[in-house]
Amino acid sequence: MPTPIADSTGAGALPDVPVPVVPAGLPDPAQLARLANEFFSALPGSAAAPDVSAGSGAVGGLASGLPAAAPLLSSVSNPAPAGSPLAGPGGTGTGVPGLAPPQGYVPGANLLPGAPTHVLSLGNRAPAMLPHAAAQDGIPDNVQAIAPALEPRAGGAVLGVPQANGLGTRSAAAVPAAGQAASPFYFVDAATFARHGDAPGIVAPPHDLADPRVFGLPAESDLLDLVSWQRRGSEVQGEPAGTGQHTHYVFENARQRAPADAQYGATPLAPSAHPPFEVNAVRRDFPILQERVNGKQLIWFDNAATTHKPQAVIDRLAWFYAHENSNIHRAAHTLAGRATDAYEEARETVRRFIGASSAEEIIFVRGTTEAINLVAKSWGVQNVGAGDEIVLSHLEHHANIVPWQRLASDKGATLRVIPVDDSGQVLLEEYRKLLSDRTKIVAVTQVSNALGTVVPVKEIVEMAHGVGAKALVDGAQSVSHMRVDVQAMDADFFVFSGHKIYGPTGIGVVYAKRALLEDMPPWQGGGNMISDVTFERTLFQPPPGRFEAGTGNIADAVGLGAALDYLTRLGIENVARYEHDLLAYATHALSRIPGVRPIGTATEKASVLSFVMRGYSPEEVGQALNEEGIAVRAGHHCAQPILRRYGLEATVRPSLAFYNTCDEVDSMMAVLRRLAARR
Ligand code: ALA
Repeated sequence: MPTPIADSTGAGALPDVPVPVVPAGLPDPAQLARLANEFFSALPGSAAAPDVSAGSGAVGGLASGLPAAAPLLSSVSNPAPAGSPLAGPGGTGTGVPGLAPPQGYVPGANLLPGAPTHVLSLGNRAPAMLPHAAAQDGIPDNVQAIAPALEPRAGGAVLGVPQANGLGTRSAAAVPAAGQAASPFYFVDAATFARHGDAPGIVAPPHDLADPRVFGLPAESDLLDLVSWQRRGSEVQGEPAGTGQHTHYVFENARQRAPADAQYGATPLAPSAHPPFEVNAVRRDFPILQERVNGKQLIWFDNAATTHKPQAVIDRLAWFYAHENSNIHRAAHTLAGRATDAYEEARETVRRFIGASSAEEIIFVRGTTEAINLVAKSWGVQNVGAGDEIVLSHLEHHANIVPWQRLASDKGATLRVIPVDDSGQVLLEEYRKLLSDRTKIVAVTQVSNALGTVVPVKEIVEMAHGVGAKALVDGAQSVSHMRVDVQAMDADFFVFSGHKIYGPTGIGVVYAKRALLEDMPPWQGGGNMISDVTFERTLFQPPPGRFEAGTGNIADAVGLGAALDYLTRLGIENVARYEHDLLAYATHALSRIPGVRPIGTATEKASVLSFVMRGYSPEEVGQALNEEGIAVRAGHHCAQPILRRYGLEATVRPSLAFYNTCDEVDSMMAVLRRLAARR
């Protein structure tokens, strides 16, 4: 008898979903394969596809919406239906090198010892289809935790690719009829976009973890009996086996595996009520983490400089260039439509990610530096004059100093600097004293790239508004580590870079309140940003087009959208919680190394662990770590004023991301202990 799967909300059973009943032993791989095929046979956009955005949510829509007549594929080794555009030269796959075909690999098959691998279906995607690296702890994954690792293998829907692109159902015929509101997207009617815009690919359940049933797999509860690590984890914490309670796997496991931890005298962490964040599963999404440097597996602690890219982003870029590449907003041909749709969907993804009220408040630029230059050269030139004041904090990156300094010098304005205390936190009372009716803008970072201080930007913005000033928040180091809601923050401008949030280099964002953008002049002139040009005058586009002169970085904007979708599937709160605990672990470990002086000890910190070491220059420490395959930045971090506040020209700066582990921290500490012992 099929067993109904309980709704993840507990609201009720889903109707008639055949699920393997495997209370003991392994699940039936053929059954799993059939379920996966049902899923891929019913891709959104096809007539048989359920509308995953409709009321019941993804799981309910998918599970209950499958019509009996949905075409089933006979075998996972012959996954692509004849004539499908997903069929590669060999009859299967996408034909995109490195892009895994949706059907060639049954999601979750790697969870099953001895699950069939269909070599013929790998085709020319073999590099992307390499088995996952073994988990460092040797413990099997659980389906719920590994789900984010699956999405590159689930095809366009999960990559955020508009489904109709791949399936050829989108057409110029979708031009709105007379009287119908025009869609901002070529070839896509508003209803189509609403589905993709609100529910790109996987619709995450409320707890932000992908639901395995979206992949046609049994729910986690069905596999708990098969996957024993959770019971083992519970036993370590003294809980009765088989309670089914989620525990904070990462740290329990670190307790087992990190003898150095006991040596540091850390108190064991209490079991967490939060859903697990399975770092070993997440790490498999980042192929570069398997690189070897100086004979050692790479340990990447230079995340404040740039982050690595998950396979989902790499695949999305490949998909763009293989299927969508064109200039945008021009030409009535199909690829222009695809590229424009992809680009504008990315803008919508950014809007959603940072909580802006409209996609027209999102401007794509090259990165944070260009973003701040745009604001200084457009809003600043228009609004800052002689005798005016611009307030910055002592923590700022050069990118949030130099553009304002140049503006001030051009206009006869003055820079005022909010001081910090010895921990590296801004002094709000001193800030208050700097504010006056001369203050035109306050520009502050949300997280210091050199010290890791989390700055109370909401209060700073509010106080700026209190004197009628505008506020710019530099989110380059914050947006990847914590939930950002620009409306709650009430920032007038919020800027960040794609490459520091798991997206490509060369793409970044200016968010600005719509009313401000309407009044701001363009900062660069050229194609795309105009509505009409004569030799006598030019009429400009409304925002955001007015600020995007020339051909922008189309593919990388799309890649940024994929990165934000990826992070959304992981759950930014899960990321923040994990990174917080990892930073606490690393901070404690560092405090035990003789001769180390931490730089930046604020109570609220994110990611960054700056320090200097007696007897060694930062460069020497950086080189010693590099010899062990450990990448950190050693230098001034483009933030010379704040380092000089501490009498320094450089620090060693490890900076953490959610794919880092306690084991990696231990490896770094072992090198530092060795160095300390020599002096
Ligand atoms: N701003 C980057 C850093 O802090 C480059 O390393």
